[in-house]
Amino acid sequence: MTCYPARMKRSIPELQHSAAPLVMVTAYDYPGGRHAEAAGVDLILVGDSLGNVVLGYDSTAPVTLGDMIHHARAVRRGAPGTFMVVDLPFGTYHTGVQDAMRSAVRVIQETGADAIKMEGATPEILQVVQTLTRNGIPVMGHVGLMPQTATAQGGLRVQGKDDDTARATLEGAVALEAAGAFSVVLEAIPARLANLISERLSVPTIGIGAGVGCDGQVLVTHDLLGVYEGEDKKIAKRYAEVGRLSREAIEAYAAEVRARAFPTKENSFVMKDDVLGKLY
Ligand code: KIV
Repeated sequence: MTCYPARMKRSIPELQHSAAPLVMVTAYDYPGGRHAEAAGVDLILVGDSLGNVVLGYDSTAPVTLGDMIHHARAVRRGAPGTFMVVDLPFGTYHTGVQDAMRSAVRVIQETGADAIKMEGATPEILQVVQTLTRNGIPVMGHVGLMPQTATAQGGLRVQGKDDDTARATLEGAVALEAAGAFSVVLEAIPARLANLISERLSVPTIGIGAGVGCDGQVLVTHDLLGVYEGEDKKIAKRYAEVGRLSREAIEAYAAEVRARAFPTKENSFVMKDDVLGKLY
């Protein structure tokens, strides 16, 4: 097994004052954490996109706190030296500040996360952000398209194209910073709105489907790796075709097994004739 050298984890002030755009990717397991850390990303997000890309749900709503903790622990084992943000899943911070605090404390204590992320900027969420940050739990905010409550937003749609949603997204981001968020994700909003928000905030914005003007970018790793064949998303770029390569590798293995071409001598163990002879 290749061992990668440990490196110093970036601190929040370092992330906030980075001259270069911040690079964040999602990870959901030990190999994902290892690959992200070896590639030298600035932040890893254990996103509740876990539900879609790993657990096979059609939304993030069924993902539980237990799911997030289980997967984040594995990511942490693979990436001990990278700043790790973990999503609080749907329903774990919506039933009051105390419940939100309990969920966040569990994530921090049980996974070794450096920060948590939550979606929205309603007065209730802002109160949660304020309480958590005042109690030493760093929070990354998330506005624009918010998959956890997408049904209420009219589906998985670009936000901020009209007056009302543009204003709500801008004001939400500003309010999240005021409440103590150390960074804010901007998802699926027009690039010009993302530029304006990035100018207004003094904490870094991290965009996904929000143009090149954000202070950083995040992608779902399964999208950038091309894990799912034929699923192109406008907001992502496929840097590899891992899904096709995986299928082709399994097809090649299956063909060799059926042709008795695998395993070969090289993959098999030997024993001495006299030991074998005694078995007859
Ligand atoms: O869950 C997730 O992967 C996310 C990113 C899309 C920002 O929230």
